[in-house]
Amino acid sequence: MTDTDTTTDANATRPVAFPQDRTCPYHPPAAYDPLRATRPLARITLFDGRPAWLVTGHATARRLLADPRLSTDRTRDGFPATSARLAAVRSRRTALLGVDDPEHRAQRKLVLPEFTLKRAAALRPRIQRIVDERLDAMIEQGPPAELVSAFALPVPSMVICALLGIPYADHDFFEEQSRRLLRGPRPADTQDARDRLEAYLGELIDRKRHSPGEGLLDDLVRKQVAEGEFDRDQLIAFAVILLVAGHETTANMISLGTFTLLGHPRRLAELRADPSLLPDAVEELMRVLSIADGLLRLATEDIDVDGTTVRAGEGVVFSTSVINRDETVYPDPDALDWHRPARHHVAFGFGIHQCLGQNLARAELEIALRTLFDRLPTLRLAAPPQEIPFKPGDTIQGMLELPVAW
Ligand code: HEM
Repeated sequence: MTDTDTTTDANATRPVAFPQDRTCPYHPPAAYDPLRATRPLARITLFDGRPAWLVTGHATARRLLADPRLSTDRTRDGFPATSARLAAVRSRRTALLGVDDPEHRAQRKLVLPEFTLKRAAALRPRIQRIVDERLDAMIEQGPPAELVSAFALPVPSMVICALLGIPYADHDFFEEQSRRLLRGPRPADTQDARDRLEAYLGELIDRKRHSPGEGLLDDLVRKQVAEGEFDRDQLIAFAVILLVAGHETTANMISLGTFTLLGHPRRLAELRADPSLLPDAVEELMRVLSIADGLLRLATEDIDVDGTTVRAGEGVVFSTSVINRDETVYPDPDALDWHRPARHHVAFGFGIHQCLGQNLARAELEIALRTLFDRLPTLRLAAPPQEIPFKPGDTIQGMLELPVAW
């Protein structure tokens, strides 16, 4: 069966407001149920009242994410935004994710060697050391602990700092600015956070120009000085996206992944009994949690999508949580199942913008989750699950706090 078999007329249903808050942190909002019944395309209304298309069918999503007629250039007129915050920084230069081919290809080529499977494999011992040290510190303090600040955030933060050559000593500053960039609350906070991150990374890059060290940013500085292929602003734009995307997303997957495993004790026991299931479990968690929910594009030409025309100038949004629960691809899609082939999920996107850091993220998630549950076999929530706060729907999904004991 293909995803067109479940098509209902996208125009026949009332547009659903997108995004909305989840009711359970590991399920799409109940308000998205009509969207799940409208594949492969549905109509939505964005925060500013603007209509847009929502891609909901799995095969259609993969086809459209690879279609060059859909642009990711946020500075284009009419580019959709899912919050006032995102709209406020639309005109800023965004490296990689904000550029189309051929410029995108050239940018990606510059950083790709650092993010291969081989590089991620080589980083595993270092990631393991970081994970062990964070757990040593947490265990020494004794239960209870707040897992986001003690473990889920510092692990990817330390890893990306080591990889990029950013001093981890500055983590309070850049974690706070990343938080404001992604969650405001006001558009002015987002703009200010972006300014501060750019100023900080600009100074760091200038220092590296005089005495480059070990790290991807240092390599890029050397390249810039030697070849002059790109300018200082471009270098800063690279640094911003790599730093922010490199720690916030993985931190949310660790916190939400832990919360989800604790809420599914039978699945957790299965994983403990057979650790070889872990790589598949990470894929299945990625699919079910779909923490980056709402990828944005603008149609630059009319596109026929399974008999419906998406017009040039219309916004197209991809709900990864809805796409990854397309029952024609994933039978019983709401169930966590380590034995299903989940790999083709779109939680890391698809096409030319597919997540650059996915090999690194997978390595971090495997090591963090395995070591956490190995070392703390009695790990449990230290508050009723319904009282533990999680992130609102208009940003990357994850836990705001995760009180645990053992
Ligand atoms: C579990 C964690 C992660 C998730 C769920 C995630 C998700 C995503 C998604 C969905 C996209 C595509 C966005 C789109 O097409 O609109 C993306 C792109 C990207 N991600 Fe990740 N990501 C994660 C970890 C990381 C890490 C660790 C890095 C490290 C630097 C990273 C860097 C990037 C970059 C640079 C892009 C843009 C790529 C391009 O446009 O060529 N991500 N990510």
